[in-house]
Amino acid sequence: MKSYRPLFRREVSQYRDHLLRLDEDSRTARFAAHVSESTIQRYCTSIDWHCTKVIGYFQDALLRGAAEIRYDSAPSPTNAELAFSVERQFQNSRIGSNLMSRALIFLRNQGITKVHVVCLLSNRRMRTMATRYRSEVAISYGDVYITIDAISDYTPKAIEELADHMADILC
Ligand SMILES: CC(C)(COP(=O)(O)OP(=O)(O)OC[C@H]1O[C@@H](n2cnc3c(N)ncnc32)[C@H](O)[C@@H]1OP(=O)(O)O)[C@@H](O)C(=O)NCCC(=O)NCCS
Repeated sequence: MKSYRPLFRREVSQYRDHLLRLDEDSRTARFAAHVSESTIQRYCTSIDWHCTKVIGYFQDALLRGAAEIRYDSAPSPTNAELAFSVERQFQNSRIGSNLMSRALIFLRNQGITKVHVVCLLSNRRMRTMATRYRSEVAISYGDVYITIDAISDYTPKAIEELADHMADILC
């Protein structure tokens, strides 16, 4: 069974185990740096759930993909940062794209206007996924900084995805 849904805070161990299952290259791409298992353990225990939300992709009750949303610390945040992780054997099956469209719908409904994604310059899949939306791109020292306009009209490709998403909900 496959499903997309937000994680409950008590499911943080699922998130940790998912991040630990990422292969070396995917883990480096996710954190834009090499990170050890203990760093991931610490990272998960230090998540501030007041300003973090994780949307997950579950297959047979296991978390296989995630979009992590971090809001800025203002009382009514208008900016958020997004980071994605899909386990190797599930990559290239549009799970990342589906997580992104769900995250953007969620953020838009929260009144977020700007969504930031940072990835390595070499991460062509992430760049393709993010720049499908109306966005500004800046490159600095091997990293790409993408700012998505969360309230602008969606581009045609993104509209197709939103239609798929609505179909999922209605079925
Ligand atoms: C990046 C990542 C989230 C993408 O998720 P995914 O499920 O593998 O990707 P999708 O199947 O949704 O494909 C995304 C797009 O990239 C395109 N793509 C695939 N390989 C590509 C390549 N080599 N060059 C350019 N575009 C490519 C796909 O065609 C698709 O675009 P389309 O829908 O217009 O055809 C996932 O691969 C991942 O978790 N990687 C490791 C961690 C990471 O890189 N995180 C991002 C940093 S925050």
